[in-house]
Amino acid sequence: MAYQNLLLEQPEPGIYLLTVNRPQALNALNAATLAELAQAVAQVATDAAARVLLVTGAGDKAFVAGADISEMQQLTADQAGVFSQQGMQVMHALEALPVPVIALVQGYALGGGCELAMACDWIIAAERAVFGQPEVNLGIPPGFGGTQRLARLVGRARALELVITARQIKAEEALAIGLVTQVVPAAELRERGMAVARTIAAKGPVAVRLAKQAVQCGQDLDLAKACAYETAAFALAFATADQREGMRAFLEKRAAKFSGR
Ligand code: CAA
Repeated sequence: MAYQNLLLEQPEPGIYLLTVNRPQALNALNAATLAELAQAVAQVATDAAARVLLVTGAGDKAFVAGADISEMQQLTADQAGVFSQQGMQVMHALEALPVPVIALVQGYALGGGCELAMACDWIIAAERAVFGQPEVNLGIPPGFGGTQRLARLVGRARALELVITARQIKAEEALAIGLVTQVVPAAELRERGMAVARTIAAKGPVAVRLAKQAVQCGQDLDLAKACAYETAAFALAFATADQREGMRAFLEKRAAKFSGR
């Protein structure tokens, strides 16, 4: 499929690399880019051979510098609601992908860019990455889930401080508060992402999917229900060829060859 504002590549079997590609606007998310993101996520979701999705931005200056301010400037309240819902749907679709999604953040991840990164399962940041929710500088609150995902990731007080003061933080602070999981030199970001992707691609695909779903669904449940969900996922795995192969390979002291069934 041809995209105007994105690149969707498969550098290796099972590994997708999605690049937001509007470097002239620091990869800002306009409605057309959001529509393409929805299509690209659907393309990955319907590929049974997909194992992992890496999400990044074109150029070294920005991951994504936010929703597109020049496009938002003219919106009525009703149109802004539709635009917010369009962004929310993209973020939900990314989260709902059965395969792990990792954001590779170089440069600015601001506003909708920070929200896009947070909708991924985890974030690997380059040393000079900058994160923030600067929307209040523009007279608006975040609109693609930032108030909610940031609070869930870093806690209520830190989220309130960052959203309400619009303070931007560097990669090291993002690591310290749990917004990102790793900080790497910029020149190594892509290769580090690929290395993690290869690691994931070698695991049992059904197990990876079940584990992702259990963590995500469990977060919105009380502990007893969440653990019951995990039990169901665990039991389900024993109906798969992957479980038999994984355990047989361990006992035979060889690498497992998973089929994803
Ligand atoms: N929307 C549209 N265009 C943007 C943009 C955005 N979010 N961010 C940057 N650009 C454009 C600039 O207008 C500029 O275009 P021109 O060359 O045509 O003038 C180009 O990208 C380069 O940007 P700068 O010249 O500003 O680059 P800089 O290095 O001086 O500053 C920056 C970089 C600090 C990231 C600055 O561009 C900036 O503050 N951008 C806006 C960040 C922001 O406020 N994001 C939140 C948007 S609101 C939102 O996202 C709502 C939501 O939650 C859904």
